[in-house]
Amino acid sequence: MADSSSSPRDEEPPGLNTAVPQTARIWNYWLGGKDNFPADRQVGDQVLEAFPAIVENARASRAFLARAVRYLAGEAGARQFLDVGTGLPTADNTHQVAQAVAPESRVVYVDNDPIVLAHARALLTSTPEGRTAYVDADLRDPDHVLQEAAGTLDFSQPVAIMLMGILGHIADDDQAQSIVKRLVAAVPSGSYLAMNDGTDTSEEVVEAARIWNQSANPTYHLRGPDRIARFFDGLALVEPGVVSPPRWHPDPSPAGLPAEIDSACGVARKP
Ligand SMILES: C[S@@+](CC[C@H](N)C(=O)[O-])C[C@H]1O[C@@H](n2cnc3c(N)ncnc32)[C@H](O)[C@@H]1O
Repeated sequence: MADSSSSPRDEEPPGLNTAVPQTARIWNYWLGGKDNFPADRQVGDQVLEAFPAIVENARASRAFLARAVRYLAGEAGARQFLDVGTGLPTADNTHQVAQAVAPESRVVYVDNDPIVLAHARALLTSTPEGRTAYVDADLRDPDHVLQEAAGTLDFSQPVAIMLMGILGHIADDDQAQSIVKRLVAAVPSGSYLAMNDGTDTSEEVVEAARIWNQSANPTYHLRGPDRIARFFDGLALVEPGVVSPPRWHPDPSPAGLPAEIDSACGVARKP
């Protein structure tokens, strides 16, 4: 982990100040999107210089999200999704992938960045059989997230909780663990947790996190794969367990297993 200390930037919800680089917009920049500003691109480029693999990392993380949702809606039979830390709309948003498999899927998106809220309309298209909703809330208040999501999701039925690229924004390990436990406690047996986050597995990514934490909002805290695996304690991990995202249910390729990136992900079922 590059930095385990909390800073005032961790405490403030992001404002619409375009001069302060924001995670959703920097992520959008690396993914080739247009919803970002000079301050976001400046930090994005500094990170890119220290860690050129970040673009591949962002794309591989989104590709994992799509494969995980396809698995959840398909093989696992999930029909309800709680996607916390949604990010700006891009290709293959959760509801599009889920509803392509099961049109009746219900999806609640949650983010605390006003710019994501401003773009939420693009996330709120739905099949007539399904439903999508957007909740402007902070993961650090999981009770509020659950309360708002209950307007769309039926918490007596299984829910797939998705935490993709967001737990690194919670610096304190105990706080991150307790948030995950609270969310998992609110869903019944047969629900799922899918998550993905950056790992401290190369010098370049550790340097990238250091650069990020000098100015970007909120700060990002890398964890080791073993610490990421602990978020799944008490749950039954789907094979192959906690792995680097390109190695989770990869599309078959004659080239063999894809290269790893500095992230760890997994999908697990609540027994
Ligand atoms: C790195 S992006 C990941 C976006 C998307 N999940 C993906 O995997 O492509 C992290 C997202 O989490 C959101 N976020 C960060 N901290 C948050 C918090 N405490 N509560 C809600 N959303 C948060 C950011 O605004 C951003 O949209």
